[in-house]
Amino acid sequence: MKPVKVGLLGLGTVGTGVVRILEGHQEDLSSQVGSPIIIEKIAVKHADKQRSIEIDPAKLTEDPWEVIRDPEIDVIVEVMGGVNGTREFMLEALNCGKHIVTANKDLMALYGSEILAKATEKQCDVFYEASVAGGIPIIRTLIEGFSSDRIIKIMGIVNGTTNYILTKMSQEGTSYEDALAEAKQLGYAEADPTSDVEGLDAARKMAILGTLGFRANVELSDVQVRGISSVSKEDIAYAKRLGYEMKLLGIADRDEEEFSISVQPTMVKKNHPIAAVNGVFNAVYVFGEAVGETMFYGAGAGEMPTATSVVADIVAVVKNLKLGVNGLKSIVPYKPKKLKSDEQ
Ligand code: NDP
Ligand code: HSE
Repeated sequence: MKPVKVGLLGLGTVGTGVVRILEGHQEDLSSQVGSPIIIEKIAVKHADKQRSIEIDPAKLTEDPWEVIRDPEIDVIVEVMGGVNGTREFMLEALNCGKHIVTANKDLMALYGSEILAKATEKQCDVFYEASVAGGIPIIRTLIEGFSSDRIIKIMGIVNGTTNYILTKMSQEGTSYEDALAEAKQLGYAEADPTSDVEGLDAARKMAILGTLGFRANVELSDVQVRGISSVSKEDIAYAKRLGYEMKLLGIADRDEEEFSISVQPTMVKKNHPIAAVNGVFNAVYVFGEAVGETMFYGAGAGEMPTATSVVADIVAVVKNLKLGVNGLKSIVPYKPKKLKSDEQ
């Protein structure tokens, strides 16, 4: 049983969870895939930083290229974040024949097509389940579970930080600033939380969900975005008095000809199940022509829920490797044509 070797880019909130799950569930994971899965090298920014887990210092490097070009490594797991640099790392990893797992929605929303095209050329897998809605397996569900249906609406709360802030403001009267500080402390927020609070993170996720759900080439610029930075406690209280909860909602609709996607603070009627989604939890409502209404719920951010999705992707890569079907079973969006009219 030759071990499968993983190179980790990043050992922050998500990377730490990935190490914990790979180590803690090693026996079960090995028995599922028929080989031990071990972490060979880890790239970090500061090798001498204090960490919440014990790591063999010999595995750490401050040079991501050392991980990417290591011939012993089969799978690169990118949980470093950012786009500049990361795109080049991913393309080079694929050039080196490595399979990729990433949690990076910024990268997949902006450069997903390029990365997936390179993966197809190199017959490598690229899995990115953790990039949308943390621990909810929504990407697999859209690609595989709904392959037989025609999805006409996707709606949901896809950012944990803003839902945490809105919930705290609504239920405990916490100030926006204090709730944001807590979300940062809990590891939910992005390195630059502007992308959370201004709705960009949710917009990137909706672009990915729209691409996969509508099987169309949705660009980030197709998503109309407004965040929660201008939502006051008074707005939330007013909505409540009228029987609504304030949520940052992503809404993607399509008809025969075109689609529309937006992210904006929305008053949701209290009796709608989405109104009861609180704290870091996310929910994605999907309406298919044949299946009708469905809804998926779970933790949308945080160390262990997100790492669950990342490690499930690693397992999927290893299963493909064992079956010798790398490249064929990847989660690759099908993109027939852009549906939205050009002038919009
Ligand atoms: P963190 O900021 O906690 O961790 C980032 C890690 O990357 C750190 O270990 C850091 O090193 C390392 N790093 C950063 N830049 C470099 C570099 N140039 N070279 C080498 N290492 C580098 O981020 P998260 O874990 O929160 O997020 C990682 C990714 O996962 C992001 O794309 C994020 O959007 C995504 N994600 C995050 C979720 C969450 O709940 N946090 C949920 C879903 C997705 P060092 O430790 O030395 O500083
Ligand atoms: N900052 C993101 C959020 C992390 O709060 O939802 C999960 O993608």
